[in-house]
Amino acid sequence: MTHTGDSRFTIHDFRFERSLVSGRFIVFEGGEGSGKSTAAAATAKRLEGAGVDVVLTREPGGTVVGEQVRALLHHDLAPWTEAFAFLVARAQIVEEVIRPALGRGATVVCDRYEASFIAYQGYARGLEMGPLLAANEAATGGVHPDLTVYLDIDPEVGLKRKLGEDEAIRTGLETLAFHRKVRAGYLSQMRAAAAGSWVAVDATLSAGEVGDAVWAAVSR
Ligand code: TYD
Repeated sequence: MTHTGDSRFTIHDFRFERSLVSGRFIVFEGGEGSGKSTAAAATAKRLEGAGVDVVLTREPGGTVVGEQVRALLHHDLAPWTEAFAFLVARAQIVEEVIRPALGRGATVVCDRYEASFIAYQGYARGLEMGPLLAANEAATGGVHPDLTVYLDIDPEVGLKRKLGEDEAIRTGLETLAFHRKVRAGYLSQMRAAAAGSWVAVDATLSAGEVGDAVWAAVSR
């Protein structure tokens, strides 16, 4: 499927596409220092090795617009400005990367997506959940993950792991109390999720053990 001019996919077209092809959408989620970027890259590599057409991407980022939004997120933004900035990046990556890839039957592996939004802007930042969910639905156009792999870690341990890394955007520089709320937000989304749509992996395991646990879930 190719994009021509501004004839973007409609939600209806997209659902039609997804019913015909086997593109799968796998998202890696977790708090700071959970190692999800490493796990996402390792999983994408393993899928590729198994002959799967894979697109590996990340949020915020993954597109020129998304990378520019990252720069914006280094500023001290008002809470809703921050929320909309993440949605600018999300709306763009869905249209430009995720939807076309799924449409051609590729498997998309994405480092962070909407569960980050609900955990960080909702549970931790404290923005009202109803408007957040509605705005996210508009930005994603109904494109939701088939599988969310959640790498669970005590934020105190995760934040220590991240020490020394530069380039953290504002949310990454928040207090321990903020990151505890993020974790609670992830756990509560996982409890509410449909059976089989989330898998939790202990992020304190070695990278190899995490990779194997993730692979077992992804293969299923
Ligand atoms: P990033 O530098 O990509 O590092 P990592 O994903 O390894 O933590 O940081 C992304 C930051 O953005 C992270 O603190 C989580 C935050 N975030 C949100 O607050 N809301 C969102 O919707 C997304 C996608 C990310």
